[in-house]
Amino acid sequence: SLRQRVPKGLQSPPGPRGFPILGNVLELRKDPHLVLTRLSRLYGDVMEVRIGTRPVLVLSGLDTIKQALVKQAEDFLGRPDLHSFHYVTDGKSLTFSPDSGEVWRARRKLAQNALKTFSITPSPRVSSCCLLEEHASQEAEYLVTKFLQLMEEEKSFDPYRYLVVSVANVICAMCFGKRHDHNDQELLNIVNTSDRFAAVAASGNPADFIPLLQYLPSRSMRLFIDFNKSFLRFTQKFVKEHYQTYDKDYIRDITDSLIEECLEKRVVTNLAAQVPEENIVNLVNDLFGAGFDTVTTALSWSLMYLVVHPHIQKRIQRELDQTIGWERRPRLSDRGMLPYTEAFILEVFRHSSFMPFTIPHSTTRDTVLNGYYIPKDRCVFINQWQVNHDEKLWKDPQTFNPERFLSADGTEVNKVEGMKVLIFGLGKRNCAGETIARWEVFLFLTTLLQQLEFSVREGKQVDMTPLYGLTVKHHRCEHFQVKQRFPVKSMN
Ligand code: HEM
Repeated sequence: SLRQRVPKGLQSPPGPRGFPILGNVLELRKDPHLVLTRLSRLYGDVMEVRIGTRPVLVLSGLDTIKQALVKQAEDFLGRPDLHSFHYVTDGKSLTFSPDSGEVWRARRKLAQNALKTFSITPSPRVSSCCLLEEHASQEAEYLVTKFLQLMEEEKSFDPYRYLVVSVANVICAMCFGKRHDHNDQELLNIVNTSDRFAAVAASGNPADFIPLLQYLPSRSMRLFIDFNKSFLRFTQKFVKEHYQTYDKDYIRDITDSLIEECLEKRVVTNLAAQVPEENIVNLVNDLFGAGFDTVTTALSWSLMYLVVHPHIQKRIQRELDQTIGWERRPRLSDRGMLPYTEAFILEVFRHSSFMPFTIPHSTTRDTVLNGYYIPKDRCVFINQWQVNHDEKLWKDPQTFNPERFLSADGTEVNKVEGMKVLIFGLGKRNCAGETIARWEVFLFLTTLLQQLEFSVREGKQVDMTPLYGLTVKHHRCEHFQVKQRFPVKSMN
């Protein structure tokens, strides 16, 4: 009966047949990004699978994805109404709720403006170029001290546990004007359980597509619901405090500026006036949530690659020594002058593809893509991993090689190559924090690597096996070691 609705002369996208009732759910149980990449070789860039009885459109290939998310942005702007997303920010999340209309647009603009003002906009309040530089440099500097101290006391350590608090502190400072101690139990409880979120919010979670599963007891679902509750409680406590101490003449942070938007002027957009106050202030929940897990994952994978490839680490450090030296710390303004470091970051994004899919999209109306008919409200997976490992785009895609992003003479990053890496999504529904994320990863890495050399304990190895989720993690490794670097004296 579905087929009958396909307009004359058009076809539904091809795809594997799948089993009755289950569809392709069994094939997709493990590493769906790899399974769907393999299937895309058979069925093409526009393919349809079924999870349970629900059809899902899977897009691969950079050109096809650009066509959908950029050229046909309005058609592919939506979010599907998925069971697990109901629990994020009480179902009112900017990122996960099915809203993609005027209210989403107004809220997204408000979130982005507040975010920008308290991160990358030049700030007269601090000596750094902006608040992001101020906070990230400070937290990275703290990490250097902490890692050295851990070496003294324990001889080795798991960097993730400390990275996550430092990164959370950066976004916490911008959102709430507060940083937390590395032993703060409340913050630790939240940031150390974010894998519970990543596991359930991952694309292809069967419970999102097979209604029956929603009624069966599930440990991962219970942990996910609890995580979302504590998370909201954590941010709402700050919001309450901010309302109590709010002063319209001194806007301290993102929360204040969202409150200001509700109470004072609503300058950003007239539409904001139609958005309930609660749904403006709770935007801070999305920003805080999106801001710590992703950047931590990026940095943690970076450290893994650095200890597996010591010669790459040395080359980054040589570049840092030659460009920045020892008299001062790295700054955002150094970014253009450190091509190899920049190439390394791009290669970490590409090779790990730690966000293998974007957050699922859905079609806002009937449309046609590459000649295939796609009805309104179709759930869409965007396979970023496939793009980043596509043999048509990359030479030896499985090899980790930062040099692929350097110009022929090695003196600059090849921008065209860099633009092919897909990890922040594209178009109107792309990552709202992309610039912040790129700058933050740069500041943390350069500050750490200027001062520290990373390795793992003799006889130990890191385990790079990817653990699938919304953000793909690796197994934690408690055998990391650091050595303080000393100035390399020039020979003449
Ligand atoms: C959405 C990636 C860091 C805020 C997204 C999406 C991706 C992504 C793939 C979904 C895009 C889509 O559905 O098409 C990343 C990566 C990061 C990162 C790889 C770090 C390396 C951040 C940071 C913030 C942020 C630091 C904010 C402080 C958001 C928000 C959305 C989003 C608010 C939802 C946008 C919407 O639905 O309209 N991100 N992100 N992200 N990101 Fe990021």
